[in-house]
Amino acid sequence: MKLFDVYPLYDVTPVAANGIEVTDDKGQKYLDFYGGHAVISIGHTHPHYVNRLKEQLDHIGFYSNSVQNPLQKRLAQKLGELSDCPDHSLFMCNSGAEANENALKMASFHTGKSKVIAFHNSFHGRTSAAVAATDNPAINAPINQQQEVTFLPLNDFDAFKNALEKDSYCAVIIEPIQGVGGLDEPTSDFFQFIEKQCKIHNVVLIADEVQSGFGRSGKFFAFQHHGIRPDIISIAKGMGNGFPVGGVLIHESFKASYGLLGTTFGGNHLACAAVLAVLEVLEQEALISNAAQVGQYLKEKAQEIPQVKKVKGRGLMIGLEFDFEVAELRKKLIHGQHMFTGGAKNKRLLRILPALNIDHSHIDLLMEALKKELS
Ligand SMILES: Cc1ncc(COP(=O)(O)O)c(C=O)c1O
Repeated sequence: MKLFDVYPLYDVTPVAANGIEVTDDKGQKYLDFYGGHAVISIGHTHPHYVNRLKEQLDHIGFYSNSVQNPLQKRLAQKLGELSDCPDHSLFMCNSGAEANENALKMASFHTGKSKVIAFHNSFHGRTSAAVAATDNPAINAPINQQQEVTFLPLNDFDAFKNALEKDSYCAVIIEPIQGVGGLDEPTSDFFQFIEKQCKIHNVVLIADEVQSGFGRSGKFFAFQHHGIRPDIISIAKGMGNGFPVGGVLIHESFKASYGLLGTTFGGNHLACAAVLAVLEVLEQEALISNAAQVGQYLKEKAQEIPQVKKVKGRGLMIGLEFDFEVAELRKKLIHGQHMFTGGAKNKRLLRILPALNIDHSHIDLLMEALKKELS
């Protein structure tokens, strides 16, 4: 059987990885400044993570959500503390798209409404409602186009107010820092404005923290840079450091009932062990403040490179914008400098999304490599 050919692949075959380093089948080492789409948060094969998963597997890897699972309760407790979201409850699932799907579904159950507001250049995943709220017609099949989604420009106060006054919406879904789209952000004023407007019009505010959450922005959640509190927060990616896991944090004002949400795999024992390991390492190694501090250093250093026209993002979720398309530069960085970086929908943007435990020396290496390839 052949593979369904949907991914354009780089000709690199990783067989091992440690920290920020990835080794291919020929023994060539690469520095990973991309973390497989912002997934690797505490570094590849972190010893605490590996031990915790191995230990868990020796005891019990999986049972469904029909029995007691104390690991889920421990995880929710720890997540509530570290994220400073004690008034939200946790529902665990398996991916970012599934997290957003459940977030939108909860908003619809809660309000009895169905229309959604999303923003230009948004990316929320590839499933039913999540992909409909994604600003990319090329990945929206006719079946997805049945959803009613209004796309608005980021930071356009009037457009937002008019939309809420003109029509009836169940949810506003927003990335506090756009990932795939290219690192644009709502301003604090805009975020606070939409939070207020949502309350007035009984619309659920969903922060999609799938990419920006779990410390990547230099705070646990990126919305915390703006002094707001969303009703629902979706999480995935860095949450499991590579273990496929997602979740939704749902404010206590939403009523749960048996069967309202559900999943076979979500919140299984191995997934909980992975997330607990990530949370423990984030806390013990103070990785969120490290992300803030190393991210600031990266921003300063990048601004010294004349070809970099704009530096976007926060913490270790950074975009470097050039006045040319970066596909060729990314190839040169992989094959010439042995470094992984990312692209975006904005083709002139290079995305830097490394593990949160990198240090200044790694940034220096990246800057040297960039200068070499740009000269
Ligand atoms: C902000 C955001 N939301 C949702 C998703 C979808 O996550 P997943 O690929 O795990 O379904 C992504 C993936 O890139 C994302 O960046």
